[in-house]
Amino acid sequence: PIGPGLEKITMRLFRKKAAPAQPRRIPTHIAIVMDGNGRWAKQRGLPRPAGHKAGAESFRTIANYAKSIGLQYLTVYAFSTENWKRPADEVNTIMGLLKQYMLEAIDSMERDQIRLRFLGDLSALSPELQELARRTNEISSHIQGFQANVCINYGGRDEIIHAARRFAADCVNGVKKPEELTEADFAHYLYTDGIPDPELIIRPSGELRTSNFLLWQSAYAEYYFTDVLWPDFDESELDKAIASYQKRERRFGGRK
Ligand code: IPE
Ligand code: IPE
Ligand code: MG
Repeated sequence: PIGPGLEKITMRLFRKKAAPAQPRRIPTHIAIVMDGNGRWAKQRGLPRPAGHKAGAESFRTIANYAKSIGLQYLTVYAFSTENWKRPADEVNTIMGLLKQYMLEAIDSMERDQIRLRFLGDLSALSPELQELARRTNEISSHIQGFQANVCINYGGRDEIIHAARRFAADCVNGVKKPEELTEADFAHYLYTDGIPDPELIIRPSGELRTSNFLLWQSAYAEYYFTDVLWPDFDESELDKAIASYQKRERRFGGRK
């Protein structure tokens, strides 16, 4: 008589063990083109700077949320190598917001345990911004865990050219040999050295293009496009993007 009883118990144990709750597949690295600030302001009859301000708020919200759901890297496109073509007052507004953000970050990143890294050709920024970037990098080196990468004066082609120049210089110096260059080696010369490629790239605001964002790193990224403008992009929008990503089958050129 003890047989069936035991069997029932073991069956129950077995069932519990055999069907663990599947942890949701959260990407390691998500990248976002923070686009649509201007249109957001226009819709509300506000000046463009108000849109950029609201966009900076969205970034704070999404960075905190990304950290809370277990992402390791969030990379955002804040200012492209082409954005210098805009009127000087708009460029100044954006640089002013960046400065404000960096100053706040210097005060709060240690408390929030958020590492911050700036990607792009920072040599074109004002000496003040370069110094703030240097200080945030310094603080980041003492922090573990979640990392936010902010792309400023970033262009995918510019990044590849910079990498090629540095590699060529190493060849001239005899440190490297052209015929030995691999994809992994070349990646070390990019601004994103040490950061895994993004699994998911999000572009809000309805535009269906990369606009020179992460050209090398996006080789096998999943893209998610939405008409929502960046200042309106909130936690639930990120959830939707991740849910879409989770339904996709990634093959990397192989076959299942
Ligand atoms: C993104 O918003 C911010 C930057 C490119 C710096 P936009 O300013 O491009 O907004 P739209 O595309 O005009 O709406
Ligand atoms: C891409 O947006 C760059 C950033 C969001 C920083 P843009 O507004 O500059 O891109 P285009 O001009 O629509 O392609
Ligand atoms: Mg735009």
